[in-house]
Amino acid sequence: MHMKRREFNRYLQHSALSLALLPWVHAVATPADRARAWRVNPFALGVASGRPRPDSLVLWTRLLVDEQDRAASGNDPVDVTVELFADSALKQRVQMAKITTDASRGHSVHVLVQSLQPSTDYWYRFRQGEALSTVGHTRTAPALQADVATLRMALTSCQHYEAGLFVAHQEIAQQDLDFVLFVGDYIYESSNAQYTTRKHNTEEPKTLDQYRARYALYKQDAMLQAAHAAHPWVLIWDDHEVVNDYANQIDMKNTPVPEFLARRAAAYRAYFEHQPVLLGPDPKSPQGASMRLHDQFAWGRLADMWTLDNRQFRSPLACPDPVRGGGRMVTQCDALNDPTRSMFGFEQERWLDKGLKASKRTWKLLAQGTQMSSTSIPGPTGRAYWNEAWDGYPEARKRLLQSIADNQIKNVVSLGGDVHMNIAAYLRPAPNDPNSPLVASEFVTTSVTSRGMGEKALGIVRDNNPDLLHARGDERGYSLISVTPSQVRCDFRTTAMPAGSEAGFKTQASFVVEKGNPAPKPI
Ligand SMILES: [Fe+2]
Repeated sequence: MHMKRREFNRYLQHSALSLALLPWVHAVATPADRARAWRVNPFALGVASGRPRPDSLVLWTRLLVDEQDRAASGNDPVDVTVELFADSALKQRVQMAKITTDASRGHSVHVLVQSLQPSTDYWYRFRQGEALSTVGHTRTAPALQADVATLRMALTSCQHYEAGLFVAHQEIAQQDLDFVLFVGDYIYESSNAQYTTRKHNTEEPKTLDQYRARYALYKQDAMLQAAHAAHPWVLIWDDHEVVNDYANQIDMKNTPVPEFLARRAAAYRAYFEHQPVLLGPDPKSPQGASMRLHDQFAWGRLADMWTLDNRQFRSPLACPDPVRGGGRMVTQCDALNDPTRSMFGFEQERWLDKGLKASKRTWKLLAQGTQMSSTSIPGPTGRAYWNEAWDGYPEARKRLLQSIADNQIKNVVSLGGDVHMNIAAYLRPAPNDPNSPLVASEFVTTSVTSRGMGEKALGIVRDNNPDLLHARGDERGYSLISVTPSQVRCDFRTTAMPAGSEAGFKTQASFVVEKGNPAPKPI
């Protein structure tokens, strides 16, 4: 039986949902398996793939070892078999490998599969003893010099578990995509009394075991599992993967740095253990509180995409409240004009700038955690800026956009998240200044579940920021980004707040950026 990719995705979504709803029934083992007989499905966290290259991919799972299984086998290393197939019927196996994992890495499994064909669909599954994982579908990137007709991705961010159901992922699982681009806030560390759809089952995480438990809750969501099983994912993080509004080494409670870095190390390690990411130099071992996440992707001759980290290396927030740290509106804040402040850190800034100047591909996509355009508003003592997004790092924004202008780099589109709003905007070195050149375009996706700004407040923001062509925070969802040699199209796919199982998705608005013209146009 040959299934088309889309049919397979539907099947997969059904099977992932069934997995969550029915008691787990273990698969038949082959006699060669001398491994454990599991009491509880060790693959209950699902499977994932990511970091698509023309010849390689990362495959991921993490065994969920329940207390009884742990008592029976202790902390012994566990062998996990991974199989890669060329067909959805799993008849043509192209690779098989055995990976050893253990409790020290939370029984996570990362497999870098290599020697693959470009622009090719693959299916994969994991096996341990009598237990079989669900089957995942993935796809490699095109060859570096290939003429690519279309790149399709789902842009997503901000999925507070308590704020709604992950229905956006249910629809994403059914889309025909090259990958899912997740730009941060995959888990939320904190709870919100306003959010009543469902509740986190553990207290706010601070230790590695606590972060593992939080990821385990999210990863058991059937809709999220379906989106992971259907497509490879490309991921960056934002703040909530550690704690709200942290900047580099500083959290909003001004926790002593060594104590905060211990928490950041736990959070970064848990992130690695739960995502199909390859983190260098040693993919098995994030270096304490440091982790290289920023990366570059190429899609044939069509697009270069930089995935950027604007949390780990950023300068401290400008003009913070001395008592309560974290993001806030600031006015008359001299630090905003300080050119030594950076959003990416100067090393990453230089790396990006060099890459942008060298790129020969048509489109240059900047995947980054937050909003680059301005949402500033006039106040009684001067204009007020949200110090946590790019408005809090205007000199860094100007450096990036001025370099794009000075070097005549064309067709740059920023793709962001974090602010729980759908945004289409102009990007200029001096925001909202008609005399400043229009050098790039921006699309920001609304959140999967997290609450956004109300229409009344947002109306004031829109009235005072003519560079915002579209800004709505009242609906939840994701954005479909479709890149062709002639245009980048964004469809904001939305449902009402809170996102619920009865949700229907519609297109809130669509915009295109045509090659050679950075002004997004509504269609
Ligand atoms: Fe968020």
